[in-house]
Amino acid sequence: MKLFDVYPLYPIELVKAQGVTLWDKKGQSYTDLYGGHAVISIGHSHPYYLEKMTEQLQKIGFYSNSVIISGQEELAEKLGKISGYPDYQLFLTNSGAESNENALKLASFHTGRKKVVAFTSAFHGRTAGAVAVTDNPSIVAPINDTSHVTFHPFNQVEGLDSVITVETAAVIVEGIQGVGGIQVASTEFLQALRKQCDVTGAQLILDSVQCGYGRSGKFFSHQYSGVQPDMMTTAKGMGNGFPMGGVLIAPHIKASYGLLGTTFGGNHLACAAGNAVLDVIKEENLIENAAKIGQYLVEQLNQFSGVKEVRGKGLMIGIEFEQPVGPIRDALLFTHHIFCGYAGKHTLRLLPSLAIDQKVADHFLESLDQVLKA
Ligand SMILES: Cc1ncc(COP(=O)(O)O)c(C=O)c1O
Repeated sequence: MKLFDVYPLYPIELVKAQGVTLWDKKGQSYTDLYGGHAVISIGHSHPYYLEKMTEQLQKIGFYSNSVIISGQEELAEKLGKISGYPDYQLFLTNSGAESNENALKLASFHTGRKKVVAFTSAFHGRTAGAVAVTDNPSIVAPINDTSHVTFHPFNQVEGLDSVITVETAAVIVEGIQGVGGIQVASTEFLQALRKQCDVTGAQLILDSVQCGYGRSGKFFSHQYSGVQPDMMTTAKGMGNGFPMGGVLIAPHIKASYGLLGTTFGGNHLACAAGNAVLDVIKEENLIENAAKIGQYLVEQLNQFSGVKEVRGKGLMIGIEFEQPVGPIRDALLFTHHIFCGYAGKHTLRLLPSLAIDQKVADHFLESLDQVLKA
């Protein structure tokens, strides 16, 4: 059997990872400033994470949500405290798309409404509801195409009062658009969304799958604006590579047996991963580190003459160039052995582990300087 060929691949096979370093099977090392799409939050193969995962696997790796899994309550408690949402409720899933799918569904159950407002350049995942609110027609199959969704220009306050109405079940927005090119939602915009949701009863969902979990220098990037969403969705950095996601749900949205469900979500091993990640984030002050190193990188990058614009917060950084980013990314990867991502044709995306230090940042800055001068 052949693989279904949907991914353009780098000709690299990684066989080992530690901290911020990756090794391929020829023994070449790489600096990882991308974390496999923002997934590696505490660094690869963190010793505490390995210890907790191994310990859990030796006891019980999986059982379904028909029994008590105390790791779930431990995770909810820790997540509530560290995120500043201790009175919210947690539903555990397996991915970002599944988190968004469940948040949209909950908004619809709660309001009894069908319509959703999403924004231009948004990316929310590839399952039915998540892709329907994603602004990319090339990945929306006819079966996902629905008249329930209206797209409004991202960061545009004007017109929100006519698009978010008493028929709107949910408004879904990324605090910082990731795939859309690292575009930060402005405080004014998020506050206007909150206000219009309050007026109409629509539920405000902050998709924090990429910009959450401490990456922005706050636990959730929308916390820079002071708004409180009705739901927040997470995944990516939550399990540091173990697939898991979650929906944080405000107290006014009530649960009932059978309303939502999943076979794998919140299993023993996922909870061990999720709890270990939060312990390390707290113990090693990784949110503060993300803010500090992110600010250093942005300050330095703003002095580069070949850089058109630097966007983002903390360690979610978009570097826009006048010229196409492809050759820059390739030179960083194949000549300087640094993994970065990209968004669109002109923006380099940095989504490293929250544990990188200034030495790693300087290595990137020197390498980028050489690439731009070559
Ligand atoms: C903002 C955002 N939401 C949702 C998703 C989908 O997450 P997953 O690939 O885990 O389904 C992504 C993935 O890139 C994302 O960036």
